[in-house]
Amino acid sequence: MAFRIAVLISGTGSLLQALLDAQAAGELRAEVAVVGSDNAAAQGLQRAAEAGVPSFVHPFVKGSDRAAWDSELTELLGARDIDLVVLAGFMKLVGPAFLARFGGRTINTHPALLPSFPGMHGPRDALEHGVKITGTTVFEVDAGVDTGRILAQEPVRVLPDDTVDSLHERIKVAERVLLVHTVNDLASQGDS
Ligand code: GAR
Repeated sequence: MAFRIAVLISGTGSLLQALLDAQAAGELRAEVAVVGSDNAAAQGLQRAAEAGVPSFVHPFVKGSDRAAWDSELTELLGARDIDLVVLAGFMKLVGPAFLARFGGRTINTHPALLPSFPGMHGPRDALEHGVKITGTTVFEVDAGVDTGRILAQEPVRVLPDDTVDSLHERIKVAERVLLVHTVNDLASQGDS
């Protein structure tokens, strides 16, 4: 039986595209079963549509009930027989209801070598700190912000003339490869 993954996105969705491309090439030991976004304008939703993958939008309205939003997200995925949830540029924190159901089988990617530079601005913070090597981390999601168990990392060198954007783009190249490998590793573990 296929190892079914859900991919949650908020924006461009190039990490999602890497998973879809790997699947189309027969190089993903998993099936992207559904894509979810908190942002109706996310470019990644278009990528899902082009690949024929079902998607949903679950926006969080500022000031509204966060716990209810989290429970609804959990239900949206809970109905779909998902083995692994992949947060791929999903810019919302999942909460207690989500973790009660999907804890231990939700992973996230971060554009820095955790535990350094957690949060929303990994590439900017690394550049401002002046590190010469940064990178990307795939980790298991827990209740903290970028604090979960580290599953895989890949270093990326900071170049003297890097901007936040040029550095982030190079990190994302490494991130796409690392994410596909990590999903494949987890799918293989699921088989055994
Ligand atoms: C990626 O670099 C991912 O690590 C980062 O957002 C980018 C999404 O790119 N995620 C975070 O910073 C989460 N805190 P994409 O939309 O092109 O896949």
